[in-house]
Amino acid sequence: MFDVKEIVANSLAPLIPSFNKNSLYDMLEYPPNPEMGDVALPCFKLSKVYKKAPALIADELLKNIPQSEYFEKVEAVSGYLNFFINKSLFIKTVIGEILDKDTKYGASDIGNGKNVVIDYSAPNIAKPFHVGHLRSTSIGNALYKIFEFMGYNCIGVNHLGDWGTQFGKLIVAYKKWGDAKRIEQNGIKELMDIYVRFHTEAEKDPTLDDEARAWFAKMEHGDEEALKLWQWFKDISLKEFKRIYDLMGIKFDSYAGESFYNDKMEAVIEELKEKDLLKESQGAMIVDLDEYDMPPCMILKKDGSSLYATRDIAAAIYRKNEYNFDKCIYVTAAAQALHFKQWFKVVELMEYDWAKDLVHVPFGLVSLGGEKLATRKGKVVLLEDILNKAMEKTLETIEAKNPNLEGKEEIAREMGVGAVIFSDLSANRIKDVSFSWDEILNFDGETGPYVQYTHARACSVLKKADEEVNSAFNSELLDSKEEYQLAKTLKLFPERVIQAMEDLEPSIITRYLVDLAQAFNRFYNTHSILVDDNDLRTARLAMVKSTKITLANGLKLIGLSTPERV
Ligand code: ARG
Repeated sequence: MFDVKEIVANSLAPLIPSFNKNSLYDMLEYPPNPEMGDVALPCFKLSKVYKKAPALIADELLKNIPQSEYFEKVEAVSGYLNFFINKSLFIKTVIGEILDKDTKYGASDIGNGKNVVIDYSAPNIAKPFHVGHLRSTSIGNALYKIFEFMGYNCIGVNHLGDWGTQFGKLIVAYKKWGDAKRIEQNGIKELMDIYVRFHTEAEKDPTLDDEARAWFAKMEHGDEEALKLWQWFKDISLKEFKRIYDLMGIKFDSYAGESFYNDKMEAVIEELKEKDLLKESQGAMIVDLDEYDMPPCMILKKDGSSLYATRDIAAAIYRKNEYNFDKCIYVTAAAQALHFKQWFKVVELMEYDWAKDLVHVPFGLVSLGGEKLATRKGKVVLLEDILNKAMEKTLETIEAKNPNLEGKEEIAREMGVGAVIFSDLSANRIKDVSFSWDEILNFDGETGPYVQYTHARACSVLKKADEEVNSAFNSELLDSKEEYQLAKTLKLFPERVIQAMEDLEPSIITRYLVDLAQAFNRFYNTHSILVDDNDLRTARLAMVKSTKITLANGLKLIGLSTPERV
């Protein structure tokens, strides 16, 4: 596209033979205010080589620089060479490209032929889906969409926590205090209750723990009754999880959870033995990581049962064989950083060269009005409650603003859920986020509803105009600073998407969308669009349409819907 620095560097290169084009490119700066042009060359760096004052160099360059359609003017001011680009050509190029590429604007094919596995969401069976899982779900889903937009083939895996000693406890709890009917009715909440009760009672009666261990051992040995109960707990939990995924519009390519690897661990343990990596320690089997300043990675417990890390290693090997991934990305809370570091190291010690392609994407905690949202002591804030509340509140706002809106319930769902996801993706993922209803649902703040509302506003202008908008428009009529600023912002989208992918950071897109919505609204509030002058109207509509395209492409990348009316 119209890369301003590239164009300036190209025209300077023949005049400054001591520097190559790339180093000139790097020397260029974006001036702090528009009176100093769009790009500037500071001549101080040249003055050493040429042994001349910067101001003199700037004057000489100015005299010799050839005329170009790309520049409106060039000025030499106090040692800087300031380039003012041809704004109308710039707008023409940028807007023309967006209108041509449409839903593909910002997309790329750099990932063609490559597979990326993204492991995200991964709630635990019989435990609530809480806001911590929301972060994993929204970040993972956004990364999925971003990589896909860059041409990669993505495989989204929901590595459910569906195996482990806790199921032994749950079976004991169920057998002692469970009520099948109530569990069918109340689902995970009921399972949680009996699970919490198990812990209170086991404090008084430790034999309960032995019973639980025995039941888990039965599960591991394929006992029919144990597995039937486990499957039932799993079905009940999945029903609830899927309800949330449906609300959020999220899908997975695989639901292979921890239990999927039960029959694949034996081979891993054999391999670890063969490679001389396993060591006994107090009856357990470990991989010693002392040399790497890490605690040992536990592979088998004293009683021979496997662990979270064992299953992760088996899963990684399985995924490499099954999907031949270019990268395998794990999205979890930062609290699990050591776990990933440890078993990534084990895979490396197993001499798999693809160990370097395993990536942990950590994120910070979520709090609600400053309160930490922990699972313990039953003080959980369930994601489903949050989503429902967001939808209700959005519906209230719509009722107040636009009570006759058609399909308002569905739009309230799209915007309510969008508000929650957007807020979750607003800050750098590693930062802790605090959740405040007033902030996330504000139609005028830096929020999902604000961006969606701006998108709908663009849609409604286009609908009202009801005319064909394409790249045949006269960009010379778009000569205001708001129009130029909007075009400059629109042009940034493709590089922001690449940056979001490289940094595994969806917040780059979220923040970009706020900037774009603001630039559009400044334009919209300053200029009438549906004016009588045909050429001017068509030109402004071209800006509106390219904004609509870019907002929609960006919203989809972070997993938000793009309602056309609100
Ligand atoms: N179930 C785990 C949790 O809730 C997350 C699993 C993440 N994925 C993985 N392969 N370890 O914390």
